[in-house]
Amino acid sequence: CGIVAYIGPRDAAPILLEGLARLEYRGYDSAGIAVAAKGSAGLKVRKQKGRVADLAASVPARFKGGTGIGHTRWATHGEPSDANSHPHLDGAERFAVVHNGIIENADELRAKLQSEGVVFRSETDTEVLAHLVAAHAVDGAELEDAVRAALKRVVGTYGIAVLDAERPDRIVVARNGSPIVLGIGEKEMFAASDVAALVRYTRQVVHLDDGELATVRADGFSTFTQDARITAKEPSTVDWEEAEYDTAGHAHFLIKEITEQPAAVERTLSGRIDERFATAHLGGLNMDAREARAFRRVKILGCGSAYYAGEMGAQLVEELARIPAHAEPASEFRYRNPVIEADTLYIAVSQSGETYDTLAAVQEVKRKGGRVLGVVNTVGSAIARECDGGVYLHAGPEISVASTKAFVSTVVAFALIALHLGRVHDLSPADGARIAAGLKALPGQIREVLEQEKEIAALAAKYARHEGMMFVGRVRGWPVAREGAQKLKEISYVHAEAYPASELKHGPLALISPELPTVAIVPDDELLEKNLTTMGEIRARRGQVLMVGHTRPEAKFTEDVILVPRNEPELDPILLTVPLQLLAYHAAVALERDVDKPRNLAKSVTVE
Ligand code: G6P
Repeated sequence: CGIVAYIGPRDAAPILLEGLARLEYRGYDSAGIAVAAKGSAGLKVRKQKGRVADLAASVPARFKGGTGIGHTRWATHGEPSDANSHPHLDGAERFAVVHNGIIENADELRAKLQSEGVVFRSETDTEVLAHLVAAHAVDGAELEDAVRAALKRVVGTYGIAVLDAERPDRIVVARNGSPIVLGIGEKEMFAASDVAALVRYTRQVVHLDDGELATVRADGFSTFTQDARITAKEPSTVDWEEAEYDTAGHAHFLIKEITEQPAAVERTLSGRIDERFATAHLGGLNMDAREARAFRRVKILGCGSAYYAGEMGAQLVEELARIPAHAEPASEFRYRNPVIEADTLYIAVSQSGETYDTLAAVQEVKRKGGRVLGVVNTVGSAIARECDGGVYLHAGPEISVASTKAFVSTVVAFALIALHLGRVHDLSPADGARIAAGLKALPGQIREVLEQEKEIAALAAKYARHEGMMFVGRVRGWPVAREGAQKLKEISYVHAEAYPASELKHGPLALISPELPTVAIVPDDELLEKNLTTMGEIRARRGQVLMVGHTRPEAKFTEDVILVPRNEPELDPILLTVPLQLLAYHAAVALERDVDKPRNLAKSVTVE
């Protein structure tokens, strides 16, 4: 979901609508805005099911007022409908609230409020907040005090913005588990759940911490805790350009972001390869060589594609540094009372830096005294701030829901980490130099893969007609297969199952038939022969095979082959991933899917 707020001399509505359009990629089944004006009674509210563009078309010209809040919603409590859309109001329609997150004790609070005579208009947990604020805004209480008192009764996660028709000189925002960023303008102020909504207006931002609230006025802001203790905040500067939030002539953000990968990888690598000592220079790790040597295990945590990137990362760390390394979904890890070891290095992976499950996993590790690094794209995000150090991707903003350039940049960041850890362990200078050279060759080689877009599009059109697809790979190719299947299912809705090629004969071979084609990841490494045997087994069951690898096999294995340039075997998975992105993209286009905004998914899941 997304939140935007504005206060200043201009009319809020157009700014809110523009900001919401920028946030639509995060979640989008309904949208709404509320504005208040000095000297005019009551709030103006417009909210409805559907896209921001539909909302914008329905907002009348007389929607005047310099203070306002807006929201795009991705349904959690209650189906998408006009009534369930945000903002939500109290009974007297004095307060409007927009909210990201989940109020866990909403049912209990709702029952209590109903017993006091409050009538609810929606099924959402958020509406409870509006009524609670109203209940505490008595006896001349300030808006801030009413919001603090309301939040004290709430259990759950939230980023909220509250508007008061009687106090249009301010907006109160609060954060607990769901991001809120303030944007500082010239005699005007903004707030949002994501800097994407702000970059058009300002680069000076302030990230709220969990448990923090802020009063935002046209001429400034103040921050404080739940107990009304004033907090000090330093503004930071956003280095992402407004233009990066535009499709720039591409049909979709997804293809734009796939195409941007050579530049994204260059930025991830920039200034980090140390030629002289054949290692990686990563100052952000905040760790000297002796500390880095002391770890006996590496545990990588992330969700979705970040988890699969972490699997590639684990493979790299184990191969280059010879330290046992494993990736695990952060969403699972946090619930299983994990054993936290002092000599394990934990690494959290997140494009947005706001995924709640990953953040909760980081907090659990830290609570138990573990050391956590972040591999994060969004500077200043919650996960980045929570970690003890880390590596920023510098991949630029990723808008399309399906991750591509952040995925590839994450694996490149892991290659740097693995090189660094390797060189404080037993990786030889010669091998270090070999990996460093391989990394530097990646941007050019990614470009070579992208040049095959037309051929890959033709294969996508051919294969997308099937109801399902199998993706197989061995060892280094296994996370490639998993991410390839993930991309396809996310954006084309074609069922895709990834399996280790070695496991095929232990079960899923039963599925193989002419109706279920297989994408086989077959790098030219020590497992080539084994992989060809698997392809033979599939062909023997009349299964079609699309091979992604380095050399064309004999025609009896398959004629459908995507060849990628060869790098170092350890780095090859990065290049093998790229054609699978194009395959998924063109399958989704061929099936006329909503590529950048696949159904039921959001870019960043800031709820449990
Ligand atoms: C959501 C998105 C996925 C993404 C995952 C992790 O589920 O739909 O595409 O991989 O979150 O996001 P993060 O921002 O933590 O990398």
